[in-house]
Amino acid sequence: MSISIGIVGLGMFGPSFISHYKKHPDVSRVALCDLKADRLAQMAKQFEIEETYSSLDEICKSDIDALVIITQPWLHARQAIQAMKAGKHVYTAVPAAQSLDECDELIETVKKTGMIYMNGETSYFYPETAFCRKKAKEGAFGHIVYTEGEYFHDMSHGLYDVSKGRWGAQWGWDKTGDAPMYYPSHSICFSISVTGAYMTEVSAQGFIYPNDEWFRKDTIWKNEFSNEVALFRMSDGSIARICEFRRIGHPGCVRSCVYGTEGSFEHNLAGAVWADKHGSQVIQLPMDHEPLPEPLAKDLGGHSGSHAYLVHEFVDSVNRERLPRINVWEAVRYCAPGFVAHESALRGGELLKIPDWGDPPK
Ligand SMILES: NC(=O)c1ccc[n+]([C@@H]2O[C@H](COP(=O)([O-])OP(=O)(O)OC[C@H]3O[C@@H](n4cnc5c(N)ncnc54)[C@H](O)[C@@H]3O)[C@@H](O)[C@H]2O)c1
Repeated sequence: MSISIGIVGLGMFGPSFISHYKKHPDVSRVALCDLKADRLAQMAKQFEIEETYSSLDEICKSDIDALVIITQPWLHARQAIQAMKAGKHVYTAVPAAQSLDECDELIETVKKTGMIYMNGETSYFYPETAFCRKKAKEGAFGHIVYTEGEYFHDMSHGLYDVSKGRWGAQWGWDKTGDAPMYYPSHSICFSISVTGAYMTEVSAQGFIYPNDEWFRKDTIWKNEFSNEVALFRMSDGSIARICEFRRIGHPGCVRSCVYGTEGSFEHNLAGAVWADKHGSQVIQLPMDHEPLPEPLAKDLGGHSGSHAYLVHEFVDSVNRERLPRINVWEAVRYCAPGFVAHESALRGGELLKIPDWGDPPK
């Protein structure tokens, strides 16, 4: 069987998925959609796609099977809910949601509509995450004691332009702002997907950069923290530490480590190391960590090759009517802990409970 796909949102990120959907052997038809007519026309021409729609409302009325929503982060949950209610299977870019209420509504909509929902967390298919998931399954870590996940991205590395593009006329130094822990899923995903556990409690702290021009109280976010560090208790008894840094003298990365009673994994800019009680060795992490249809395997795409895996996971889930690995129950566990961590940081590190929506139905 093959399916039809509509890609909604053709800004900086969306177009990097178009060729993978076009090449997938189980996709019969690809349509494009954006509010900006010039962007839509340019992408339709570049990727030789005739079928286009000028809004999410319009594409929801079409007979397309599944929508890939890569719009501004604060729109994902509402648009996913709208699309599922219109009978579409849905993939959204991260974050899945922007509040605990939106997490709740997303879960309820998936349950009520029965549509397939997947979240596009790129870190899930990073070579180091795939490697550590395999090691954990084999029991090579023993009991996992502690995990770390970090997303370092200095504001000067393109983030002001990204924000200007997303907010348009609403953008402004004294208007927009940000809260790092509201974009936590790149770092949180590693701890959850490797341990199979989830975050239950958090205590967090925030760093205020003196006279920060961007992280300010007079913005939408009312947030002064440019960097936030959170310490979590996990449901399996292990501990996780997450850093979301936007002011940092660093080229930028998503970095992760695992420490277990029998083995450990460390990862930094210099590479990856496997360690146990007898010593350590530098390891190469294969990019081709699981099978893919041939046209996708030849060109894995961006974010450490994760794009091809994300595309295949979504197409295959819809085609086989199976639960995607980054389903809605997994996706809310990647973002809700960040919202509570930010609240804890605002309250000076108060230990707070993290809500959980349970595991997917069997
Ligand atoms: N590694 C990653 O996972 C990663 C990397 C980059 C971006 N992202 C995510 O991708 C998303 C998109 O980022 P971007 O930089 O491309 O944003 P962007 O602002 O450049 O693009 C968003 C596009 O969505 C379109 N849009 C919004 N509402 C629409 C509607 N109702 N109908 C049709 N089109 C609509 C806008 O017109 C715009 O062209 C963000 O949410 C971001 O979090 C994830």
